[in-house]
Amino acid sequence: MFGARCLLRALRSCSSAPCPRHKPSAKLSVRDALGAQNASGERVKVQGWIRSVRSQKEVLFLHVNDGSSLESLQVVADSSFDSRELAFGSSVEVQGQLVKSLSKRQNVELKAEKIEVVGNCDAKDSGFVHIHTPVITSNDCEGAGELFQVKPSSKIKVPEENFFNVPVFLTVSGQLHLEVMSGAFTQVFTFGPTFRAENSQSRRHLAEFYMVEAEISFLESLQDLMQVMEGLFKTTTMTVLSNCPEDVELCHKFIAPGQKDRLEHMLKNNFLIISYTEAVEILKQASQNFTFTPEWGADLHTEHEKYLVKHCGDIPVFVINYPLALKPFYMRDNEDSPQHTVAAVDLLVPGVGELFGGSLREERYHFLEQRLARSGLTEAYQWYLDLRRFGSVPHGGFGMGFERYLQCILGIDNIKDVIPFPRFTHSCLL
Ligand code: 4AD
Ligand code: MG
Repeated sequence: MFGARCLLRALRSCSSAPCPRHKPSAKLSVRDALGAQNASGERVKVQGWIRSVRSQKEVLFLHVNDGSSLESLQVVADSSFDSRELAFGSSVEVQGQLVKSLSKRQNVELKAEKIEVVGNCDAKDSGFVHIHTPVITSNDCEGAGELFQVKPSSKIKVPEENFFNVPVFLTVSGQLHLEVMSGAFTQVFTFGPTFRAENSQSRRHLAEFYMVEAEISFLESLQDLMQVMEGLFKTTTMTVLSNCPEDVELCHKFIAPGQKDRLEHMLKNNFLIISYTEAVEILKQASQNFTFTPEWGADLHTEHEKYLVKHCGDIPVFVINYPLALKPFYMRDNEDSPQHTVAAVDLLVPGVGELFGGSLREERYHFLEQRLARSGLTEAYQWYLDLRRFGSVPHGGFGMGFERYLQCILGIDNIKDVIPFPRFTHSCLL
């Protein structure tokens, strides 16, 4: 596998342009290359990171920097070199001729004869920029009060009552921070540990779990959001199946016989969409007796979610437009009546129930202001409200629980079996 990758890399660096035979190139720093007086075609080698890529019909321009200079070196290459790997942040080794530049912006440029990508940069995936959102935060994004508070141990003397002046907690979601960053990068994601003080020992709840979250600016419909969610589920699953078939097969063979077919069924079919109101109607008509009687305005429980997925033919199903009263303050008001709903979406999957939770966000200042006021949160969320005052745009996003995702694709019944050190109420071993 590794060998094949190296072979491909070598092929890519050589096959796209002729590799003339000539004496070994002298290695130069970007600073030395830029400072070369009378550049007249000497063969040199420069290593660094791509700062920008400009692709034209016949020429490709790269700006490469190795930290030796504030300025970057312009690399000019034949368009046949163009590849997805030559992206912002990738590290490259470029060999070619150092020549005088025709442009006034720089004295010299490097005419590339060979470009080797040393390391891909996956900071951007499908146009999503990876953001490290904080673990310690002062917000309760979901407003459910399921927070673990963080305090210095009593041995440490801090003059103020609170170390950070305000009470702080382990994050329940990086969403609000992603909303800030999507205002700069349009499409962002985070993947990190998430904490919930839920008093639950169920087969799908942990006190510490991992969540993938995405946030997209200029997104105006749940339809567009669901497309990204379905795409993420399907492409990730196909990648897992093709990259580690032995591991998946082991689980399927010994723990969940028949799971392979169930998974293929999910991948082959378009996910279904029903509204919360339709979901409640389906549940009311069910012959099954539920522990919690389904009624409009009440939360869907795991038993309801599992029934809905079965009812839909064991294909993942999006449930949209939940009652406003059930959902957090940030979800966009649908302004409907008499059943007042928000543009929320949960994806329910076979065997697990809710795997994704997402929504359009309330981007309208006055709507958000009123929702915050009603919950007594105006002061604490002033900064969040301010985002709606300075260039607010429609946007939306979602979060997917990573351990629940593993349960779903591997067919594992208990969430505690997909994580080496599960944390849940009354248990924190090691
Ligand atoms: O539905 P949730 O609470 O959504 C949010 O936190 C949003 N702020 C995400 C966003 O829009 N950026 O959580 C998202 C997902 C759930 O659908 C579930 O898969 C998982 O996180 N999850 C848990 N997984 C394991 N244990 C728990 N206690 C979980 N709570 C949520
Ligand atoms: Mg949820």
